[in-house]
Amino acid sequence: MKNIVLIGFMGVGKGSVAREVIKHSDYIAIDTDDLIESMENRKIKSIFELEGEEYFRKLEKKVAHWLEQSVKDTLISTGGGFYKQKNIKKIGTIVLLDSPFDEIIKRIKEHPNALKKLKKRPLLQDLQKAKEIYDVRRPDYLKLADVVIDVTNKPALECARELLKKVKKL
Ligand code: S3P
Repeated sequence: MKNIVLIGFMGVGKGSVAREVIKHSDYIAIDTDDLIESMENRKIKSIFELEGEEYFRKLEKKVAHWLEQSVKDTLISTGGGFYKQKNIKKIGTIVLLDSPFDEIIKRIKEHPNALKKLKKRPLLQDLQKAKEIYDVRRPDYLKLADVVIDVTNKPALECARELLKKVKKL
């Protein structure tokens, strides 16, 4: 089994889809943000506040190197900016979870934990700026992806099933 690398914008549902994939397959799942938080023993929000984005990106680079060298048979959820890591294609099959910006924001706002979900993401504090980031990233996400799943209005389980089917066919 080749690694699966889940990419996509903040709040698109990478974590939820990953949890369904592992329920219905032999994959183990890890998350680059969780790895960074445990390496640093503090939250992403405080890493951004105290050290800045550049420091965070260096940690992502370290994680990317480790993933390439040491991880196999794994579903890897990534932070929305992880796609910039130069070796990402060497880590595994890239699966993009795709949805229009407004739908992603709607999805977050409708979540029972909406406030927490918004607060923990430093780059989602200003929605106008977030939209600009989305517009820059989306073409790059699409270029990188081996598989694209449109997650708009689709339950995580359905997305997970589609993902496993499409990855199997590669
Ligand atoms: C980021 C996305 C976040 C997290 C950090 C930066 C980004 O992860 O890595 O706040 O640059 O898009 P999620 O995509 O899980 O929100």
